[in-house]
Amino acid sequence: MKELPRADLNALLRQMPKAELHMHVEGSLEPELIFRLAQRNGVVLPYASVEALRAAYAFTSLQSFLDIYYAGASVLLKQEDFFEMAWAYFERAAADSVVHTEIFFDPQTHTDRGVAIETVIVGLAHACRRAHAELGISARLILCFLRHLSEDAAFATLEQALPYRDQFIGVGLDSSERGHPPEKFARVFARCRELGLHVVAHAGEEGPPAYIWSALEVLKAERVDHGVRCLEDPALVRRLVAERVPLTVCPLSNVLLRVFDTLAGHNLPALLDAGLCVTVNSDDPAYFGGYLNDNFAATFDALPQLNVAHAYALAHNSFEASFAPTAAKARWVAALDEVFARFRS
Ligand code: ADE
Ligand code: ZN
Repeated sequence: MKELPRADLNALLRQMPKAELHMHVEGSLEPELIFRLAQRNGVVLPYASVEALRAAYAFTSLQSFLDIYYAGASVLLKQEDFFEMAWAYFERAAADSVVHTEIFFDPQTHTDRGVAIETVIVGLAHACRRAHAELGISARLILCFLRHLSEDAAFATLEQALPYRDQFIGVGLDSSERGHPPEKFARVFARCRELGLHVVAHAGEEGPPAYIWSALEVLKAERVDHGVRCLEDPALVRRLVAERVPLTVCPLSNVLLRVFDTLAGHNLPALLDAGLCVTVNSDDPAYFGGYLNDNFAATFDALPQLNVAHAYALAHNSFEASFAPTAAKARWVAALDEVFARFRS
């Protein structure tokens, strides 16, 4: 593929249509909205101001982030709170040329505070419908189980969610990875597969390659979220490449949570060069310094070996890795090809 001047490559990254497949909607809650919802709902926060909250975003590990992330989510009580949070994300996503997104939500973070699962799902699903109608974004929901809780708790959550089965397309596994291997959730994931739900799992973010193996072999995960530590195990890379199992990589998140020391040291180029089906995603954009295009821009800036062909591969992979119907994927790829042709002419 012909190279472009850097300014043109940056414009192409911004304008190319893309899918986002790894974004926790509770991680899109900006400090301003946290404070507005806290005031509206009478929730007292352990931070005096927006600035004080932002100043606390100095993470040393996944757990140090999760403690603040769960505190932020405590302001969400009503359907309209969930709607507003998701709508704010969709507006940002539309500005980043996102045409399809499969967003994670953590029901247990809310039901454990006494919020009904109906409140969560109905509010989010309303925002998804409006994103399609008003922004042209196709948006789907993936329900995540919190892996620091028990499998019985995950089963109870699945039971509560089943009346809303048509509002989400799959299940995932997130929260504290170390000490909570995928096999802890073998039975509940088997039940989800029987129900026809798609299954994905966070693995190989802080956890070892063995967790990626068990996400594949025990949970039968169709995508691995993060998965960056797969490069430590050549046999695992061969398996992921052979089966084209997508990895939803989140570069800014990985630096903020110290998975990599710097963006320049991120293994994204090596993952791509290994032939893996890698995608770029924002994870928790309100906490990690940026939305999807910020991730693309910062990553391509820090890693000058990334070029036009890599940009195309990442956008193409995002559609291929999505759970959208084949016809929709073909439409998005055609739109992607049109944008690339425009930049090459
Ligand atoms: N929940 C929100 N963001 C997460 C991440 N990066 N890893 C695990 N669980 C999460
Ligand atoms: Zn994540």
